[in-house]
Amino acid sequence: MSTPSRSTPMDLAAAAAMRGVRGANPLVGAVLTAPDGAVLAVGHHRGRGTAHAEVDAIARWEAARAADPGLAALDTAAFDPADLTLHVTLEPCDHTGTTGPCSEAVLRAGFGALRYAVADPTGDDGGGAARLSRHGVRVEGPTGEAAAVALTARWRAVRAAGRPWVTAHLAQSLDGNAAAADGTSRWITGEASRHHAHEVRARVDAIVVGTGTVLADDPRLTARAADGAAAARQPVPVVQGRRRIPADAALHAAHPVVLQTGERDPHDVLAAIAAHPGPWPHGRRAEHVLVEGGPHVLGAWFSAGLVDEVMAYTAPLLLGAGLPAVAGLDVGTLADGIRLVPDPAEGGPVKALGEDVWTHLMPAP
Ligand SMILES: NC(=O)c1ccc[n+]([C@@H]2O[C@H](COP(=O)([O-])OP(=O)(O)OC[C@H]3O[C@@H](n4cnc5c(N)ncnc54)[C@H](OP(=O)(O)O)[C@@H]3O)[C@@H](O)[C@H]2O)c1
Repeated sequence: MSTPSRSTPMDLAAAAAMRGVRGANPLVGAVLTAPDGAVLAVGHHRGRGTAHAEVDAIARWEAARAADPGLAALDTAAFDPADLTLHVTLEPCDHTGTTGPCSEAVLRAGFGALRYAVADPTGDDGGGAARLSRHGVRVEGPTGEAAAVALTARWRAVRAAGRPWVTAHLAQSLDGNAAAADGTSRWITGEASRHHAHEVRARVDAIVVGTGTVLADDPRLTARAADGAAAARQPVPVVQGRRRIPADAALHAAHPVVLQTGERDPHDVLAAIAAHPGPWPHGRRAEHVLVEGGPHVLGAWFSAGLVDEVMAYTAPLLLGAGLPAVAGLDVGTLADGIRLVPDPAEGGPVKALGEDVWTHLMPAP
């Protein structure tokens, strides 16, 4: 007789992590358990500038106790925090970035034990486990559960390469066109898709487009809310291409700095971005780059293997002989195609956005 498989706290933490967004920060989940294994709180990280997963789990545990006098009584009577275990998919950080060090939050909460699946690979941010251990917390890790390792595999590779996370956006018709035969492309997708795309713009540092897009569409490349209000932080526009951007281009009016680079190879574009002083909306350097196209620039980034996730907005529209959403790929036969796999982060790889369909994909491992 087979026994039903039971989710472990680390499985739960990994599933919670998947509700977060990819980008400059990793997907991280945390679960707090009682000595009998009961799950007391689940937390996850929602992207740069928001609470880390450990802090989110602690806040949820405190909110649950405040809301339920029974739990509070149980807590004082039977749950010494020192008996509780925090399970985290990634080692708690030990540095002060946009939020405080997680190691300190865990110490303040007084938990007796910490299990973590993957060591923090970043020199400055790691070290939380060692600090907790020094302060008497029983630390176990890295425990290496596969689900937790998979969460951050690409993010860790990107960090190791010392480059920003790269998201590719494409808005396309059902038959895979980014524009009609005459170059018109506004708007292929509906309002809900555009709103979603603006939310993504608001969390990136730079938006890359080619001169073809600037000259055809004269875009502003700003991040705006549904009511048109500008987001507090605006990405820096990066124009890839050699043709001159007109002085009266909307980009110049919308941004204090417009970076143009004549580099063809996206690796060199990243180097130009790294060498640029900014102003980057999130600090010292660009850590999240959004490639919005058009088709030729997208093709170059895919060919270079530099796309870490793809968000495709597909509209119920047929354009016939239009402009392919991704152009210039060197694919002559099926076996040479660039294979992508569904990305379950952000609540699932497929979402309806009004009449459009949002598909979230990542490179096949
Ligand atoms: N549906 C959508 O999401 C969407 C998004 C953007 C654009 N569009 C549409 O796409 C059309 C423009 O297409 P496009 O392909 O010309 O736009 P693009 O990809 O933005 O620009 C292409 C230009 O980028 C420059 N470039 C720099 N590095 C390159 C490289 N490695 N490979 C190729 N080109 C490179 C070249 O210009 P230089 O000669 O100046 O160097 C090239 O002509 C417009 O109709 C626009 O409306 C649609």
